[in-house]
Amino acid sequence: MTVPFPAARTAVVTGVGAPRGIGRVVARRLAREGWSLALVDVRPDGVSEIADELSGTTDVLGVPADITSPVEVRAVFDRVDDALPPVVGLVNLAGTACPTPLLELTVQEWNTSFAVNATGSLLMIQEAARRMAAVGVGRIVNTSSITALDGGGTFSKTAYAASKAAVLGLTKGAARELGPLGITANVLLPGPVDTDIMGGQLTEERKAGMAAGIPVGRVGQPDDIAAAVSFLLGEEAGYVNGASFQIDGGKLIH
Ligand SMILES: NC(=O)c1ccc[n+]([C@@H]2O[C@H](COP(=O)([O-])OP(=O)(O)OC[C@H]3O[C@@H](n4cnc5c(N)ncnc54)[C@H](O)[C@@H]3O)[C@@H](O)[C@H]2O)c1
Repeated sequence: MTVPFPAARTAVVTGVGAPRGIGRVVARRLAREGWSLALVDVRPDGVSEIADELSGTTDVLGVPADITSPVEVRAVFDRVDDALPPVVGLVNLAGTACPTPLLELTVQEWNTSFAVNATGSLLMIQEAARRMAAVGVGRIVNTSSITALDGGGTFSKTAYAASKAAVLGLTKGAARELGPLGITANVLLPGPVDTDIMGGQLTEERKAGMAAGIPVGRVGQPDDIAAAVSFLLGEEAGYVNGASFQIDGGKLIH
C-alpha cells in the first residue's frame, strides 16, 4: 500500500556548511518546494549562516554535528523530533575529498575518507530510516561520485574513489532492505561540480580544461545536482529505488 506523502514533512540535509557547496543550493531548493529543513554540518558557523538565510521561508533547524559520530548523529535526530514535522527526506551530501596518491596514502587518510563518506552516510540513514518507517514513507538520496567508477583524477584519488564506491553498495543495500518499509534509496554520481571541495584548486583555467573533456562543454553547477535531488525526494519518485544517477554532462559514458 502506498502511504500518502505528508504535507508537513522534514528533509535532513548534510553538507550545508560550505558557502559555495552543493548542500546549500539543495537546501534553498527544498525550502522553496515546501520541505521543513534540518541542516547539518560539522562547521557550526556555516550551519547558522544557511539556517538564518532560510529561516523566513520555511521551518528550519540548524544542527552542527560530525556525522562520523553515532552519538552526535543520534542527537541531531532527537532535536529534529522535538522541533520539526516527521522526517521523510534525507540528503547525504557531507563528504570529504582526498588528493593523496595511493603510494603516499596514510591509514588515517583512508579511514577518514571512509568515516565521512561511507560511515557518516550509514549513520544518518539508520536514524532517518527508523523515523521514516514509522511514517510509512521515506526518500533517501546519497552522494557518490563518478570517481567511484573511474578511480579518480587529479584532485581525488584512491581513498575517495573507494569510499564513494562504498556509498554505491550502501545505497543498494538500503534500497533492498528499506523498500518494504516504504522508503526508497538512490544515489547520485556527480562529475566535477564547481564548488570549493578541492580547496580552491578548481581555477577558471582548470575548469576550462576539464570542460573540454565533457560532451556538454562545461563543469557542473550545484543547481544541476539540486534538480536531481528535488526529483528523487518528491512524491512522484516512489517507484525509483536503488538507482544510480550520473550527473556529469556525459564525462563518463559507458
Ligand atoms: N564538487 C564536486 O566536484 C563533486 C563531485 C562528485 C561528488 N561530490 C560530492 O558531493 C558532495 C558535496 O560536495 P561539495 O562539492 O558541495 O563539497 P564541499 O566541500 O563544498 O561541502 C562538503 C561539506 O561537508 C561537510 N563535512 C565534511 N565532513 C563532515 C563531517 N564529518 N560531518 C559533517 N559535515 C561534514 C563540510 O564541512 C562541507 O560543508 C560530497 O559528498 C562530494 O564528495 C562532489
